[in-house]
Amino acid sequence: MGEFKPCFWDTSKPIEEKLDFENPLVEIGFGNGDFTLWLAERFSDRPVLAVDKWHPGVRALIHKCRQRKLNNLYVFNLDANLFVEYLLKPHQVEAFFFNYPDPFFKKRDIKRRLLKTSFLKWVALKLRHGGRVYIRTDIADYYEYILEQLEPIKDLFEVRKDFDIDLPTTKYEQKALREGRKPLKLLLVKVKDPTDITDREVEKLRALRLDRCNIENLKRGMELKDPQRGYFLKVEHTYRSEDIDLVELYVGEEGFYQHLFLGIFKTKNGFVVKPKSFAVGVRSVSWAVERVAEILEK
Ligand SMILES: C[S@@+](CC[C@H](N)C(=O)[O-])C[C@H]1O[C@@H](n2cnc3c(N)ncnc32)[C@H](O)[C@@H]1O
Repeated sequence: MGEFKPCFWDTSKPIEEKLDFENPLVEIGFGNGDFTLWLAERFSDRPVLAVDKWHPGVRALIHKCRQRKLNNLYVFNLDANLFVEYLLKPHQVEAFFFNYPDPFFKKRDIKRRLLKTSFLKWVALKLRHGGRVYIRTDIADYYEYILEQLEPIKDLFEVRKDFDIDLPTTKYEQKALREGRKPLKLLLVKVKDPTDITDREVEKLRALRLDRCNIENLKRGMELKDPQRGYFLKVEHTYRSEDIDLVELYVGEEGFYQHLFLGIFKTKNGFVVKPKSFAVGVRSVSWAVERVAEILEK
């Protein structure tokens, strides 16, 4: 595996140590989180990890989780590509659940579909032997696409067309049924590890020092791009407080993005800028921190 140094709430303890879950159940793309709550209540003796890149859904689920006093549910606001690739360990996961992943219909968007060969290889690596992947979609075209994407890695999974357990309906499934589409199911049972898997390049996320800091230089909606490397950033918001200013950003590369905060701390000799919330140190993040720092220092 490649070098892996994300940061997590500015603590010195590496995230790998925090994520030492045994046999977790992992739901990817939980939407409003109702299925996640069912999973966490039904399997209360297991850690349930739920991932979605949609911030309002994440906030809503955390709120519901607190109300119900669940203590086995861990919610991540992150792109699933990063989560599966960097934050899960090989042979760790008992089961993955994909309920109605976004179909991305337009031809130019098809590459954004999550369940493609490269991603499914990571899923295979992170599953324990015999571990399961439960997939539901109402889109026949996506269903066929997944079967095609499984073709080059057919030795990794046994593919079944029905589930071995009953799973409750989801919000999106109800919508599909109302609109006359029916659920299509795929169950993948892990048989083998992938052998030819390549890591994305990651870096240690460094803090940058600045002599001056003009946060008013950052405007809401400001976008920057590095077309050659396919990186982009968008400033969502800036927040000021007495001890720390925050810059809320979307930073992306290769069809996925991360939502993160940069903290700006005042020190005796100037300012320090560093990724504050949970961020995976792919190169686009270091690039974004440098670009933002340049603008702040103008
Ligand atoms: C069509 S909705 C289905 C929601 C829910 N599972 C349901 O069945 O009601 C797809 C969900 O997947 C999330 N999603 C799509 N691509 C994702 C990605 N790359 N990483 C994390 N979440 C993703 C979206 O934000 C959205 O909440």
